[in-house]
Parts: sequence; C-alpha cells; structure tokens
Amino acid sequence: MSNNYLAWKIRVEDFPINGKIYEQIKFLLGFGILAPSGHNGQPWEFKIVNNILNIFVNKKRALVKSDPSGKQLCIGIGCLIENFCIAANFYGFETVIQYGNYIISDDPIAKITLNKIKNISHDRDNLIHFITKRSTHRNNYTSQPIPEYFINNLHELSSDNIKIFIIQEKKLKEQIADLIIQAQITAMDKPYFRQELSELMKSNITKSKIGMPGFAFGLPLPISLFSWWMIKKINMSKLNKKIDEQTFKRFTSAFIIISSKDDTKISWINTGRLCEKIWLLAERHGLKCSPNAAPIQELGYKEQLQKLINSNLNPLVLMRVGYSKKISRSTPRLSVEDLIIKTP
Ligand SMILES: Cc1cc2nc3c(=O)[nH]c(=O)nc-3n(C[C@H](O)[C@H](O)[C@H](O)COP(=O)(O)O)c2cc1C
Repeated sequence: MSNNYLAWKIRVEDFPINGKIYEQIKFLLGFGILAPSGHNGQPWEFKIVNNILNIFVNKKRALVKSDPSGKQLCIGIGCLIENFCIAANFYGFETVIQYGNYIISDDPIAKITLNKIKNISHDRDNLIHFITKRSTHRNNYTSQPIPEYFINNLHELSSDNIKIFIIQEKKLKEQIADLIIQAQITAMDKPYFRQELSELMKSNITKSKIGMPGFAFGLPLPISLFSWWMIKKINMSKLNKKIDEQTFKRFTSAFIIISSKDDTKISWINTGRLCEKIWLLAERHGLKCSPNAAPIQELGYKEQLQKLINSNLNPLVLMRVGYSKKISRSTPRLSVEDLIIKTP
C-alpha cells in the first residue's frame, strides 16, 4: 500500500491504553484526520499541549479562491472534530470544545480539552467502527428507498438551531437536481475555480497525500492522468450535464439538506459535526453519501434552495444519499505525524 493511504490502516484495538496522554491524543487524531474536506485539501494542523488538542487552520491548504469566507473549510473542520470526539468518547474521554477566531488571527480555530471519565466502550455499533469505512460515493445509487428507521434517526438529530431535511419526493428531487447541475456549471465557468480544483485533481497512481485521485470520480487510469488538465481547461459540468442529470434524478434515493438558524463560523462547524455524524450513521445502515457544495457556495442558489424546501434557515450542507452496488476506494490522507506542528 502506498504511503498516502496508510492513515486508513488505523485499528480500534491499537489504542495505547498505558501510553502518555500525548500518545493517546495522537492516536485519537488518527480517526479525526480521516474526515472529509472540500477537494480533500485537509486544511488542518495540530498542537497537543498536555490534555488539550489545539486545531489550527493551515492556510496553504485552504481553498482561498472557491471558499473565501471559509464556510466549506469550517464544515470540514466540524467533520474532523466529530470524528475526534466520537473516538475520544469511545475510549472514555469527556471532551470540552472552545472555539477561537482563526479568520482574524493565527489562534487555534478550536481547542478540545480531554478528561478521562470512564472505561473504554465495547459497543460494536459505535460510530468509531464506521470512520474507516466512510467515503464519498459519487456513482449511481440503486432504486432501493432509504429505510424509515434511518429517516427517524435523522429527525431525532434535528433541532431548532440546525434542521435536517430529507427529500424523497420525485418532483422536488428533480428540482433540486436541476439546481445542483446549474450551480456546478456556474462554479466551473470560473477559471479560478477550475484552477484551484485542477491542482487537487490527481491521477489514480498519485503519491500525493492531498487531493482527489480520478478513481473517486469513476475515471480509469489513462484518463485520470489528464484529469487535472481537462478540469483546468474545460467546464466539465457542462459536458457531463446529461450524465449528472441521470445520477442526480434517477440514481439518487434522497437528498439530505442541513440548514442552520445562524450563519456564523461556529454554526458552520457545528453543521459539519452533524454532517459527519449523519454520514457515519448512513454508513452503519449500509447507505452511501455524496455532498454538493455548489448550490451553497454560488451566488443566488441558496435562496432558490430555501424556496424549494420552504425554509428560511441557512442551507449549509446538501448531500445525495442511497445504496450503492459499487465499492468506493478511500482517498489519500496526510499522516498525523505530518500534521503536528513542530515547535523549535
Ligand atoms: C464541506 C465539504 C464540501 C464538499 N463538496 C463537494 C462537492 O461539491 N462535490 C464533490 O464531489 N465532493 C464534495 N465533497 C467531498 C470531498 O471531495 C471528499 O470528502 C474528499 O475528496 C475526501 O474524500 P472522501 O470523502 O472519500 O474521504 C465535499 C466534502 C466536504 C467536507
């Protein structure tokens, strides 16, 4: 196995029970860093001080052109925090999170304090067991509807502050699909968007620890070698419109939309946490997910989405969900060691 996939080899049973707190937090981070992030940029790095994990934004890996407000970045950080907290709680730690303001300073975006309060869990259904199984499935889903118990699970997670919408009705699903396709075309029309994306499009044999190999989009090796160039030069969303229409309309069981009352950095992070929880719950039920940020990011589309689902809350995450017959491969990751800030 190439070095850039080694992070996925983490095993729940390898927790260093008798190790120092530093080693234990490093191990927990091994689950954190498997989180999804926009273009797989992994815009995070860490400092561990005693029993505190400091999470920093790595500005070099942030998508400054396509995500200048940091919304997608904060959602990704939320996914990382959720993975980390699920792992910490599984091994008996209580976690307390404080948020900083990275946008105006170089301070940590979040600090997580850990205290050991109970024994290690033996729950085989715990979401920690699904972290290494999760991935983005962009392929077609089967016609099998999503089960009632999963929908009930999601309704239980909905609150006044962050609401979850599940859209299964054919006509509404088609309207949302059209909105996604149009928003993707709008995003891909911008050369700076394509440039940033092309830098993170990788071949199927890449040794890079960041970015997306072509196989994540169903590309065979020869095409994956040129995918960065095609993305840079061509609006592929325009070219793939018909295929996307099929995927989003016929081969998507439902859309999940997560909307928040507030539109602040903390609400973006909390929405990211909920997004990752839903993604792992889906995986536990054998369901696959794939997010689409374009209608959230592109000007004017958010309002159309609000109108379609009849809600004036802020939509922050939009994902397809369904069953898939295809097995999808994990994408590369930086190692925890790569991501710990070394103090001189
Ligand atoms: C905030 C956020 C936004 C994303 N937006 C998109 C998107 O618009 N289109 C897409 O195909 N994937 C999107 N993804 C999926 C990422 O590309 C994916 O998580 C990343 O490449 C790592 O792959 P993995 O999820 O299989 O581990 C998004 C993920 C996150 C966390």
